[in-house]
Amino acid sequence: MFEIEQERPEHAAAIEALLDLSFGPGRYAKTAQRLREGNTAVPELCYVAFANEVTDHGVERRMVGALSFWPIVIGGVDGLMLGPLAVEPQLRGKGCGINLMRRGLADAKALGYRLVILVGDEPYYVKVGFGPVPPGRLTMPGPVDPNRLLYRELDLGAFGHAHGPITKPLPKRAAEEAKAESA
Ligand SMILES: CC(C)(COP(=O)(O)OP(=O)(O)OC[C@H]1O[C@@H](n2cnc3c(N)ncnc32)[C@H](O)[C@@H]1OP(=O)(O)O)[C@@H](O)C(=O)NCCC(=O)NCCS
Repeated sequence: MFEIEQERPEHAAAIEALLDLSFGPGRYAKTAQRLREGNTAVPELCYVAFANEVTDHGVERRMVGALSFWPIVIGGVDGLMLGPLAVEPQLRGKGCGINLMRRGLADAKALGYRLVILVGDEPYYVKVGFGPVPPGRLTMPGPVDPNRLLYRELDLGAFGHAHGPITKPLPKRAAEEAKAESA
């Protein structure tokens, strides 16, 4: 029912419209946004979902879902933040969100990522293997409801190494310098 593709530049306007519709203007004020500002989503892990709908004018192909993953450091472990995830209101409840996440999590694992976090409703994300971060274990760069901070391992045991702040990755040059210093 849904066709999932990697995001391309020409999808950008439709994705922005879908995110505005789904989250409203408050989306830029969320703490998760602090981890996206000045950061770049992993291009291979940005997806759009299309649905074919029969209309009076024939079959119409529309973008109805979007998902991206962002590189972050999760308490010392290189990982990803999942989201934003949005599905067009009329097509919710038909599996689009879950399919987007399954595809993204499988690709992220194949790319070697070990750990993913997100801020969201546990009863939904438990369907794709997320669980709650134990209180006090990880800190976001701003206020979040601790019950909504969730994680999923892509590599068994990766979460065991994650303690402390969740941050954006260091810029490449600073990361290389830090590596050279510690060598
Ligand atoms: C959340 C969202 C992406 C789900 O997409 P979707 O395509 O409707 O989800 P799916 O069809 O894959 O999954 C539907 C199932 O999840 C459940 N579900 C959906 N949202 C839920 C939520 N917030 N909490 C608990 N369960 C939820 C549905 O009841 C349904 O359950 P069922 O399969 O047992 O009937 C979509 O509702 C949306 O875009 N919402 C607005 C933006 C948003 O809140 N994004 C998530 C940020 S945390």
